Formats: sequence, C-alpha cells, structure tokens
Amino acid sequence: MEQKTAKKRILTGVQPSGILHIGNYFGAISASVKLQEEADESFLFIADFHSLTVNPDPDALRERVKQVALDFLACGIDPAKTLFFRQSDVPEVCELSWILNCITGVGLLERAHSYKDKIAKGFSPNNGLFSYPVLMAADILLYKSTLVPVGKDQKQHLEITRDIAIRFNQMYGETLVVPDGYINTDVAVVPGLDGQKMSKSYNNTIEIFGNPKAIRKKIMGMPTDCKTLEEPKDPDTCNVFALYKLFSTKAQQEEMAERYRAGNYGYGHAKQALFDAYMDFFAPMRKRREELEADPGYVESVLKTSAEKAKAVAQETLLQVQKAVGLR
Ligand code: ADP
Ligand code: TRP
Repeated sequence: MEQKTAKKRILTGVQPSGILHIGNYFGAISASVKLQEEADESFLFIADFHSLTVNPDPDALRERVKQVALDFLACGIDPAKTLFFRQSDVPEVCELSWILNCITGVGLLERAHSYKDKIAKGFSPNNGLFSYPVLMAADILLYKSTLVPVGKDQKQHLEITRDIAIRFNQMYGETLVVPDGYINTDVAVVPGLDGQKMSKSYNNTIEIFGNPKAIRKKIMGMPTDCKTLEEPKDPDTCNVFALYKLFSTKAQQEEMAERYRAGNYGYGHAKQALFDAYMDFFAPMRKRREELEADPGYVESVLKTSAEKAKAVAQETLLQVQKAVGLR
C-alpha cells in the first residue's frame, strides 16, 4: 500500500543578539546546516521583530542583522536549500500574531519561564516581551512548519506554540499544523575559556570569526593547573583538551592525550595546538565570510529573494486563517 508521508518542513529563527561564538556553532548552527540536507524544505529567519522587545539602538540592530546574515551564510547555510530571510520582510507574521493573541490566555503567557526570569531580574516588561511567545508561535504556524529545532531554553515556547495551534483548530476547524519540537540532546555543552558553559553573558567565549591575534591571546590565557612542563598531565580534566576535541579527529585527540600523559608537554604547547586547530577548522568559513562581506548586494539579494518565497507561503496560510476567523 502506498504510504503518504507529510512533507518535512523545518523552520527555526535566530535572534540577532550578538557576536556568535563556537558554542553557538557546535550547539546550533552546525545542526541547521546539517538539517537543510535532510529536510524537504528548510526555513531560517533572523528574528528582528523579536529583538525590538529590548528596544535596541536602531543602527546597532541593523548592523547585527547584517552580521548574523554573513555569519550563517559563511557557516554553510545554502540559499539553494534554505529560505534564509529577515522576519520583518514578511510582516504578515504580525497579523497572524494578533489573531493568535486573541485566542491565547494571559495565564499561559504568565507561566513562561523566560518571561518570569526577566521579571525576577527586575525587568519592567513591555507588552511585546509578554507576548513574545505568541509572535514565535505565529512564526512557526505561518509557514506550516512540521519540525522546529531549538535549544533547551526554547522548549516551553514550543509547547506554547503547540497549545495555541491546537486551540485554534478546536475553535475554528483544522487550519494550522501542530509542529513537533526538536531538541538536539546529542549536543554537548561547549565549555568556555574558564570551564563554565560558554556564553556571551559569562565573557568566556571564543568567537567564530574573532580577530586571530585576540583569540590566540584569550586561549594562551586559559587557566590550567600549575604542573611543570616535565610533569605528566591528565587530558581528561583539562579544559584546553576538551576544546581541542571539537576541532580534531580521534587520531589527533589520541596523539595529544599521549603527549599529556608522557610529560615534557606544557599547557602552552597544547594551547598553541588548540589555536592552530581552531584556525584550520574555521579557515574556509572565514574565507567565505570575507567574500560575502565584499559583496553586500549578494547577501541582501539572498534575504530578499527568500523573503518573497516565504511570503507566498505566508499569504496562503494567512488567507485560510482570516477566512476561518471571519475576516473575509
Ligand atoms: P548565549 O548563552 O551566548 O547567550 P544563546 O542563548 O544566544 O547563547 O544561544 C543560541 C544557541 O546556541 C542556542 O540554541 C543554544 O542552545 C546554543 N548554545 C549557546 N551556548 C552554547 C554552548 N556553550 N554549548 C552548546 N550550545 C550552545
Ligand atoms: N526565541 C528564539 C530564540 O531566542 C528565536 C525565535 C524566534 C525562534 N522565533 C522562532 C526559534 C521560531 C524557532 C522558531 O532563540
């Protein structure tokens, strides 16, 4: 019997919130690059509407959107396989967001951890911050996404999206696709220079496209124990080795581990090897980024062309939603 399988449409959004680090690369970007190969359709957008909840400086926001676009394209997002666009280039999402706001209970949003955390930190919330998960639901539902890869921190937002979609369908008939979340649990947490989780909030990052001299300085300054050059060392408790593993083959890791255990191998040597491996790993992406930077017209045309295609999907869903609720 012929089996009809639904199209796999993957969608995710990235906030243009800062300079990307290798934790973002191994924890999120590389998965998006891989998933574009497996999906029937892949959508990735820069969530600039979401950024407005924290009222960024306008020029800084524009600049960060540009940088994120360069970063993702350089890291391997292929516009032939992924529709890569700016959220605000498809403003239909705001209309859907409004409609969804009108079926979303205040209690559901009050329970959102990320909202509660911000309140606990003394933030005086604006309404955009409060209804952030509804705009995120609109992002996902507008494009009838089936699978949404996100980090653990976004799991609850995805559950809210599912709740909203189910409620809409119950109230107005089957219209929206209830998406599945995809939390990649294989991804190990990338440690920062100090051994805690790498995060822009901890000032312990290695930027993907950072200035090589500055990165080398950061790596050479990583804290280690105070064993002398001659003493044997334990690779498994050393953060330099943990980071080296991200950029090396099993054979290279074994070779470095042997050197640690044999003695006469200093942390300075290991740090230099880590720096070299980091530079080699990202060299093709750095080169690609430089080419893209020299061609801003190309980057803009990728975002615009993708947005037009995304808009066609968005308008179709929005029309169905408008009809369902009695607007047309
Ligand atoms: P940050 O902690 O620097 O603010 P974000 O919260 O903006 O990073 O993370 C964006 C994405 O990168 C998320 O999907 C998150 O899971 C992933 N990510 C961030 N830091 C790490 C890390 N140290 N290890 C693995 N993944 C990470
Ligand atoms: N809230 C997400 C984050 O901070 C970004 C985002 C916005 C998103 N809309 C989305 C992620 C839709 C997945 C799907 O990381």
